[in-house]
Amino acid sequence: MQPLLIVHGGAWNIPPKLQAAHLRGCAQAVRRVYPLLQEGLPALDAVEQAVNILEEDPTFDAGRGAFLNARGEIELDAIIMDGRTLQFGAVAAVQNILHPVSAARLIMEKTEHCFLVGKGAQEFLWAQGFPEVPPETLLTERELAFYRQIREDPHFTTRRPFDPSPQDTVGAVALDREGNLAAATSTGGTPRKMPGRVGDSPLPGAGAWADNQHGAASATGWGEAIMQVLLSRTVCDLFATQTPRKAARQAIEILHTRVNGRGGLIAITPDGEYAFHHNTRKMAFALYHPEKGVLAGIDQEHLTRFSG
Ligand code: GLY
Repeated sequence: MQPLLIVHGGAWNIPPKLQAAHLRGCAQAVRRVYPLLQEGLPALDAVEQAVNILEEDPTFDAGRGAFLNARGEIELDAIIMDGRTLQFGAVAAVQNILHPVSAARLIMEKTEHCFLVGKGAQEFLWAQGFPEVPPETLLTERELAFYRQIREDPHFTTRRPFDPSPQDTVGAVALDREGNLAAATSTGGTPRKMPGRVGDSPLPGAGAWADNQHGAASATGWGEAIMQVLLSRTVCDLFATQTPRKAARQAIEILHTRVNGRGGLIAITPDGEYAFHHNTRKMAFALYHPEKGVLAGIDQEHLTRFSG
């Protein structure tokens, strides 16, 4: 089967000065991981490796570069899901971790549970020898300055529909040569979130979903709304009755009309067709096209060959 990889770097009103870094970051993840998929890398490894690259890139709200919460700390959420078995691993509200998606995978593979949070997750990870990083590894000047700007602002909210509040969550969806699907999503959540707040990203069906029989997806945007409509699972269900493009459009329509939500998604059907849609002004994403190579887009209207 022709493998497929699609990644995203958040859906929001990405300002022009940040667009090049978003495009470059997404394109690099695809450029580095897609050749490995072609050589036979399993989809589960491909989504983990692609998200690891995005977590290291300070452009995005995941791993390094994550938003600070109301206490001025970084708390991270992530999920990884295997479309062969419907097994998933997830972490939420964890600190001092550069690669939460790999932490999620360790939980999936080394515990009898699916989902660990906070201190309990960290205790398990450190006992396994998972790397603990100092907070400075994740902190960027940009996010510290943004936190200082919004920390006392009584009008700041992430709840205002279509407000350009940043949402730089990252995600990846892959189909491998064996026809297996996988999905992964990783995030620092929303700016100035309450400590302990968990968004859609680590929740199966909301932030990601992967099922060889129905499709795989990763979502980004305003988590409180995305989790209400299980956006990733919803688009995969719609693949049964709609073309991929219409399914993606309809899933976002459901997000919009049912819960006044805003966000975006990337997805792959079990037959190996990709789909994406968003109702934010922008969404950064990239994929590998068999004839055109790496394509990157900053919105659904402008998908261009990426050579930068
Ligand atoms: N979509 C990321 C979040 O709301 O946490």
